[in-house]
Amino acid sequence: MCFNVGANLVKVSNIIEVNDVSHRFGDVRALQGLSLEVKQGEVRGLLGPNGAGKTTLVRLLATLLRVQTGSANIGGFDLTTQAGMVRKTIGLAGQAAAVDEFLTGRENLEIVGRLYQLGKKTAKLRADETLERLGLTEAADRTVKTYSGGMRRRLDLGASLVGHPKILLLDEPTTGLDPRTRQQLWDFLRTLQDQGTTVLLTTQYLEEADALADSITVIDRGTVIAEGTPESLKQRVGGDYLLATPANQQDCSQVVDVLSQVGESPARLNERLGQVSVPVTDRVAALVAVSQQVEEHGIVLADLAVQRPTLDDVFLALTGQPEPDSVSSPGRVDQ
Ligand SMILES: Nc1ncnc2c1ncn2[C@@H]1O[C@H](COP(=O)(O)OP(=O)(O)OP(=O)(O)O)[C@@H](O)[C@H]1O
Ligand SMILES: [Mg+2]
Repeated sequence: MCFNVGANLVKVSNIIEVNDVSHRFGDVRALQGLSLEVKQGEVRGLLGPNGAGKTTLVRLLATLLRVQTGSANIGGFDLTTQAGMVRKTIGLAGQAAAVDEFLTGRENLEIVGRLYQLGKKTAKLRADETLERLGLTEAADRTVKTYSGGMRRRLDLGASLVGHPKILLLDEPTTGLDPRTRQQLWDFLRTLQDQGTTVLLTTQYLEEADALADSITVIDRGTVIAEGTPESLKQRVGGDYLLATPANQQDCSQVVDVLSQVGESPARLNERLGQVSVPVTDRVAALVAVSQQVEEHGIVLADLAVQRPTLDDVFLALTGQPEPDSVSSPGRVDQ
């Protein structure tokens, strides 16, 4: 694809291109006319409710499933006719653990290295380096069946990195990890990102997509329903809300009047919370105006805040259902 910028033609390379791909499992249509373009060095978050087709897409891109309809290429290699080259270009950490329980962490990674056709010595070095990067050096010579769930996930991710892939396909890489380990993996993924690795990442944690992804593709029922930066998607579902909670309940109606003057539409009172809300375009100006006016009226507020839409709101608005883990996920994005 080329864009004309001024007098210069700038080549924008899509390292992943999926064109109108459909995939059926018997009667189940897992993907329906799905198209996707990911630029080199980009971290793309793939979001969607359970059964949306995320894993199917990742497995197709990893050549674990055959392309039925449509076409796709990775790093310029066609998925159907150049599957071997595609496999050399990518690293995959799937949703289900792919490591061998009865081998040690080190042995697992060395085998993966050999599968990437690295020499024995190089495979050994890569395994050591990967174990170190993922904090598994101490456990390296224990069989994987003695590993905790978090250690297995890290080893799984490690297996996807041994071949130093240009493109990483990660299917829910941090599911089941505690918040500290998840944070460590995020930091690690950011270093890969800085080194120019392209990452396609599915996740059930919206704050993960918010924290890591340059852009997000939302899929539902096997097709793309929205795409954009986390910020642009949030803007799509609506702007900011101003929330004011009067210290005294009897001031509620006056606060409704004040907020109605400042906001974009009449303010609403949530009687249960004793909270008044209104949509605003300029949140700073609105905060200042409300602060001044309540003071003039001698009203005391217990709380005054701006609420920004979250990716949870985006997900809900786009797919009509809450992201399954968003309620229980630790540290979900708020404001
Ligand atoms: N091997 C298979 N045989 C039959 N149906 C399948 C198979 N794999 C996936 N499906 C179906 O295809 C659809 C898409 O599944 P997929 O696993 O891609 O969803 P997902 O978005 O990854 O979901 P989750 O968030 O639960 O991981 C679902 O309806 C699923 O039941
Ligand atoms: Mg899945």
